[in-house]
Amino acid sequence: MQKISIVGAGRVGESTAQFLARENLCREIVLIDVKDGVPQGAALDIQETAPLFGFDTRLSGSTDGAAMAGSGLVIITAGIPRKPGMSRSDVLDTNVAIIDKVMDDVVKHAPDAMVLVVSNPVDVLTYRAWQKSGWPRHRVFGQAGVLDSSRMAYFVASETGLSVKNIHAMVLGGHGDAMVPLIRYTTIAGIPIENFLDREVIDRIIERTRHGGAEILALKQTSSAYDAPAAAIAEMVDAIVRNRRQVLPTVAILDGEYGSDDVAMGVPCVLGKNGMEEVVVLELNHEEHKMFDESLAGVVADIERLREG
Ligand code: LAC
Repeated sequence: MQKISIVGAGRVGESTAQFLARENLCREIVLIDVKDGVPQGAALDIQETAPLFGFDTRLSGSTDGAAMAGSGLVIITAGIPRKPGMSRSDVLDTNVAIIDKVMDDVVKHAPDAMVLVVSNPVDVLTYRAWQKSGWPRHRVFGQAGVLDSSRMAYFVASETGLSVKNIHAMVLGGHGDAMVPLIRYTTIAGIPIENFLDREVIDRIIERTRHGGAEILALKQTSSAYDAPAAAIAEMVDAIVRNRRQVLPTVAILDGEYGSDDVAMGVPCVLGKNGMEEVVVLELNHEEHKMFDESLAGVVADIERLREG
């Protein structure tokens, strides 16, 4: 891919630019932010690491949405972050206004791009971005589950004392406290984690995963997580630009899958050069479906609030 734009040069945006550049995932990265000087400074700072890391990606910063012209992918990280005690939905109204403005720019200046939404609440904002775009759903999707699954995989590694290397965790649903960590699909070397951990520990891992973002926010107080979110974005971008057709949990617009449509939710998807190429439908048992539907209800309630407001 030639060019990727990152809207929002806050901590997530800046870390994302750094990871994408270090991985040589594109030739050009543009950071865009409303605060003049911030995206330019961040871009220059990362650019000056190029000789150390050996990447040829060129970075620049701008306050002008027109700078995203020619992008194959626009990553949206702009928005106000949560403060301790706030839920992701608490920031909804402010961030909807920001997404609307960013999507006006995307549609105008980068009409052929794909859009990866990261700003919270990510499920609702992915839906909003998709609506604003009028584009097919494979071009507008969001990041949540790769981060949540990475957190969960780390917790499994930490509880078992085993390598993270072949631990695969799967977290579906909305990126909120009702997210759905799927134990049956979480494995170590292909072996279900129930072979390694008893129920009490598994329950602890589920709870810690659900509150993974809040745990970091409570520790840092003045900042949400940004390294793991940026690494999760880089994983999705890698699957797209290298056309891996990799199965990754992705916030996708559902069109009948999982018994839902006209909503955005975290589900396993095939990511490749066309973006969200396919939704993978898992058989959920009764209990899993119940959790999925509860998570869905929260996202639907927020979407309906937007429709009314
Ligand atoms: C988190 C926030 C960024 O999960 O949603 O860390």
